[in-house]
Amino acid sequence: MFGFKNVLSLAVVLPMARLAVGQAAEWGQCGGIGWTGATTCVSGNVCTKLNDYYSQCQPGSVTSPPPTSTVPATTPPPGTTTPTGSAPPGLSSIPASTLHQITGFGTNPNNVAVYVYKPARVAANPPLIVASHYCGGSAQAYYTGSKFAQLSETYGYVVLYPSSPHSGSCWDVSSNETLTHNGGSDSLGIASAARYAIANWGVDANRVFAVGTSSGAMMTNVLAAAYPDIFKAGIVDSGVPAGCFSLPGQPEDSWNSQCSQGQLVLTGQQWAQRVYDAYPGYTGARPKMQVWHGTADTTLYPQNFYETIKQWTTVFGYPSTPISNVSEPYLPSGYSNATYGPNFQAILAQGVGHTVPLFEQQYLQFLGIA
Ligand SMILES: *[C@@H]1O[C@H](CO)[C@@H](O)[C@H](O)[C@H]1NC(C)=O
Ligand SMILES: *[C@@H]1O[C@H](CO)[C@@H](O)[C@H](O)[C@H]1NC(C)=O
Ligand SMILES: *[C@@H]1O[C@H](CO)[C@@H](O)[C@H](O)[C@H]1NC(C)=O
Repeated sequence: MFGFKNVLSLAVVLPMARLAVGQAAEWGQCGGIGWTGATTCVSGNVCTKLNDYYSQCQPGSVTSPPPTSTVPATTPPPGTTTPTGSAPPGLSSIPASTLHQITGFGTNPNNVAVYVYKPARVAANPPLIVASHYCGGSAQAYYTGSKFAQLSETYGYVVLYPSSPHSGSCWDVSSNETLTHNGGSDSLGIASAARYAIANWGVDANRVFAVGTSSGAMMTNVLAAAYPDIFKAGIVDSGVPAGCFSLPGQPEDSWNSQCSQGQLVLTGQQWAQRVYDAYPGYTGARPKMQVWHGTADTTLYPQNFYETIKQWTTVFGYPSTPISNVSEPYLPSGYSNATYGPNFQAILAQGVGHTVPLFEQQYLQFLGIA
């Protein structure tokens, strides 16, 4: 008889069998919303949550996330260079090794909330990284879901985490104001915080960088286009070209489905024009850019990767085909790194959805910090 006991044991055995099917490889996905694959990692790796959509197997043992309240200064890992120099004067009033909100940093039409993370040991003339979160995220969520703060304890840079003021907490990347140098909206609030850090904290103006994921990646492209005088490099994780969401005359923070679905296909010259229009008359250097995107992205379709390539290669006057396009030993198989020139790289992640997991240590190399 096929009794109750058998049904029960089946019910117990099946989930276990499913878990035993596979362990995710090093750097492979091991969790996240919608993820149905392996949730444990091969030995020597820890499944690390990078954001709500992506957990990744990372080498090493369990590390705790950065502290969320004031804690004693942490000791840097052995073998790392300890930044010398004492904290620049303006930074001394900011508590170390905790996420701390700053106010009164300048023109901020939308009241973007801005938080700073200052490591225990700040480098002399520290670099600054502005890290912008995804839709539905926040300064706090991006802080705990990324390693920018943790790594600042090793490298001595300062991190700014802006937090979106909009319901749904996307960034305004659609209004004419946000897409224009000193034009207003979210981008101006973020730019003001970066200017404040340069003016008051001894931050090295030549090492001010923007990074972001999804909506924050779109904002990173916007900051690179509208404030090239402030930002010297940008890292765009799963975004769209600068100006792709442009909907002048519509409310700030409007969603542009034509762009998100990869249906806004322009020439390199047209895309470059959106960069030039963001800061008319600007003739200085443009930030160097590194762009990451997954081929299985159904939130911001992968066509946006190729449109972003057209945009920045045209701005830099680079050829439209890469000089090299190779896999990198530290990246999962299926990732390709296309280099177009010293200031532009585009990494495509085969089979990866929205968003590509963060590779903070590699970003720091691109930014010249690590
Ligand atoms: C965008 O803003 C700039 C500066 O405020 C203004 O000159 C321009 O006419 C605006 N463009 C549109 C399309 O609204
Ligand atoms: C780089 O090569 C891969 C195949 O190895 C390809 O899928 C990808 O589109 C190439 N990247 C670019 C930017 O052309
Ligand atoms: C891509 O390739 C270039 C050229 O070899 C290299 O400098 C850069 O570090 C690589 N980028 C990544 C993300 O691996």
